[in-house]
Amino acid sequence: MALSDLIIVLCEPDEHYLVSDLPPLKEDSVTLLFSLVIPTYNEIQNIEKIVEILTTILDSFIPNSYELIIVDDDSPDRTWEVAQHLMLYYPQLRVMRRERERGLSSAVVRGWQAARGEILGVIDGDLQHPPETLIKLLKEIDNGADLAVASRHIEDGGVSNWSLMRRVLSRGAQLLGLLILPDVLGRVSDPMSGYFLVRRSAIANCYMNPTGYKILLEVLGRGNVHQVAEVGYVFQERQEGESKVTWKQYVEYITHLLRLRSRGRIGRLQRRFQPPITRFLRFALVGLSGVFVDMFVFYLLSDPTKLGWGLTRSKAIAAEIAIINNFLWNDLWTFGDLSRKQRGWQQRFKRFIKFNIICLAGLVLNILILNLLFNVFGLNRYLANLIAIAAVTVWNFWVNLKLGWRVTEI
Ligand code: GDD
Ligand code: MN
Repeated sequence: MALSDLIIVLCEPDEHYLVSDLPPLKEDSVTLLFSLVIPTYNEIQNIEKIVEILTTILDSFIPNSYELIIVDDDSPDRTWEVAQHLMLYYPQLRVMRRERERGLSSAVVRGWQAARGEILGVIDGDLQHPPETLIKLLKEIDNGADLAVASRHIEDGGVSNWSLMRRVLSRGAQLLGLLILPDVLGRVSDPMSGYFLVRRSAIANCYMNPTGYKILLEVLGRGNVHQVAEVGYVFQERQEGESKVTWKQYVEYITHLLRLRSRGRIGRLQRRFQPPITRFLRFALVGLSGVFVDMFVFYLLSDPTKLGWGLTRSKAIAAEIAIINNFLWNDLWTFGDLSRKQRGWQQRFKRFIKFNIICLAGLVLNILILNLLFNVFGLNRYLANLIAIAAVTVWNFWVNLKLGWRVTEI
């Protein structure tokens, strides 16, 4: 393979990336079905293996109609040099060495700008994303999806043996994203995924301005994605090298969310995804029944003429009984249509645990607001309790819809 195929991109770091700036498909250039970008930074121990595995899988599934594009940011371990050498043996391989840009997301967009496929994809270069999942993702696109995401948080998904800290950080980041950008992150169960395929038509002519690690946010927030599909996968343990994730990626993630939120696009998305009013009214009605349960038990336990227990203990017990009441009604009525897609006691128990965790977080919020209004502002204890419950109802509804009874947007 002539080394002239080695694309060296010396672009300026702060440039907007117009995906439609893709080099025009020349007459003599084959319009491929699939282009898979592999972003690499110090992956010298993994690069040969992943190219071999990917070409074996794709040669058997879509022979002669795909390309692999390694986008390396001038790795100190010279990954790009090994990749360049591999081009001699793998005609479907192209290598981009970026000398003046850094960043996982921008590497992916740069790779897509040079891609020739109608379907664009991204997979990590460290074998933590199982290559065999690609076949299922390609089949989902073939079935009509614009975006097919490999998710760790649906059936057949998982994260092998991540530390509790990493799990909490990942889920916490997701929750934060749901609060800042619910209509974008709420469309998939794993918005943090770095493993997905997207139709070129869904992101062509869209300004992409990616930072950090979460390229999927950019695609969901700025692309024209209508139909989303998800495939479960287990995030593997890294065998060689180490993760490049630092606190910097978390900061970039938050600024990325805020930048996406500030765009007019979110307004257009909000018009497109009307808030689920009916479902919210049912949730509120169930919540109201929970208020009576909460108040009645709170009265029995805390009122000086009854058991006269302490405020917080009474509140905690009353709230948990109300949570059980609410879960049963919500699972049957408010989200009944979604629960029926996830049958079985195990699924129901999982939903109950999630519901409890979300509501307990709401309970903490509730107790804080109750104590603030009662002890700091001197409000009547029952009025304070009512205001606290109302504020938490909105929180509980939204997070339960997006996490507890979540469904992929069809
Ligand atoms: N070109 C380039 N430039 N590649 C990079 C850079 C960079 O600055 N930083 C990391 N990479 C490459 C790595 O070489 C690896 O192939 C891939 O991007 C993922 O980097 P890791 O550092 O291994 O990330 P992770 O394993 O902690 O998280 C990955 O998986 C998560 C779950 O899908 C990332 O893809 C996350 O975005 C993703 O959420
Ligand atoms: Mn990794």
